[in-house]
Amino acid sequence: MPDEIVFSRPYRAPGELTNLAAVLDSDHSHGDGAFTASATGRLREVTGATDALLTTSCTHALEMSMLLLDVRPGDEVVLPSFTFTSAAIAVVARGATPVFVDIEGPSGNLDVGQVAEALTPRTKAVIAMHYGGASVDLDALLAATAEAGVALVEDNAHGLGGRSGAHRLGTVGVLGTQSFHDTKNVHCGEGGALLVNDPALWERAEVIREKGTNRARFLRGQVDKYTWQDEGSSYLPSELNAAVLDAQLAAFDEIQQRRLGVWTAYAEGLSEWAAHVGATLVSDTVGLEHSAHLFYAVMPDHEGQQGLIAHLREAGVRAAFHYVPLDSSPAGQRYGRTAHVLDRTAAFSAQLVRLPLWAGLADAQIERVIEGVTSYRPVRVA
Ligand SMILES: Cc1ncc(COP(=O)(O)O)c(C=O)c1O
Repeated sequence: MPDEIVFSRPYRAPGELTNLAAVLDSDHSHGDGAFTASATGRLREVTGATDALLTTSCTHALEMSMLLLDVRPGDEVVLPSFTFTSAAIAVVARGATPVFVDIEGPSGNLDVGQVAEALTPRTKAVIAMHYGGASVDLDALLAATAEAGVALVEDNAHGLGGRSGAHRLGTVGVLGTQSFHDTKNVHCGEGGALLVNDPALWERAEVIREKGTNRARFLRGQVDKYTWQDEGSSYLPSELNAAVLDAQLAAFDEIQQRRLGVWTAYAEGLSEWAAHVGATLVSDTVGLEHSAHLFYAVMPDHEGQQGLIAHLREAGVRAAFHYVPLDSSPAGQRYGRTAHVLDRTAAFSAQLVRLPLWAGLADAQIERVIEGVTSYRPVRVA
């Protein structure tokens, strides 16, 4: 049996080890040193954000967002049920209620019509997630949130550097969050960033990230000592993480080109099979603007999902599904609420199969994945 093709493998960027050695040989491995500054500059370039702060994770950037927007007990925050737990726990950490909405269809992105219906006088914010780095309907979402006077936060964990027409993903809402977890296109083990798109939030964002102190102003020589100013936590990554991130961001174009190559090969190699077995591919639902973060097939039913994953495992290919819907999970039921039955989310989660997608996949491995998928016939089609 040939080697197993793993589901995800972090990219190794040139310069990572040199950068790490430079930090270890220096006297500065805590946060906000030269590599943090350099990586932040690259991040601003890649995203188009005016102001950005590196954080310890996307989860923490979401927590910071809820603090910055003064989300409090009694408030509500609208978010998709089909997303990672991070958005929901950031809301719950403030004592507020997550209100879950459905997806619009096989793009996996939230249904903006349901968001508009879910807004109440208690709604403080909407957290939207660009699934796979393909944009939600940002114009419609902006219109709905602006009309209600509600803040928009973009969880852009999947969509680093992505676009939607004139929009740069992560820079449209008042705040945008990024993940540099090692399953993401660009990584530093664990890490993240907060894109601060509303200048009025900048000063407080720096304070919240630095244990509630004005240390950032102190380091710039703007105050003669730093003191406790506000709520906050320790949300800044060490220079060791920033050193790896800096090397990764320098390789951003190369990483994206490679991932897009895999994505396109799957789209071309699987389209006939998908039509035959009644599956929908991500390439059938999103346009050209996406971050090549993931490639998936939506199978006609749950048996098809389980069958394809098991069939691929036999062929030495690791495939996966994700996001157990938040509204039906134990904590989601305890802390959240929904205005609707979220049928599309439940079906999507039960039918989704994600294929290996990482920048180092060799052509022969891509072929093996395609062969593995196209040799599968769901029982009712066979
Ligand atoms: C949509 C989304 N948001 C947030 C996160 C959390 O990212 P982090 O691990 O950087 O906290 C993930 C993780 O996979 C995610 O998929």
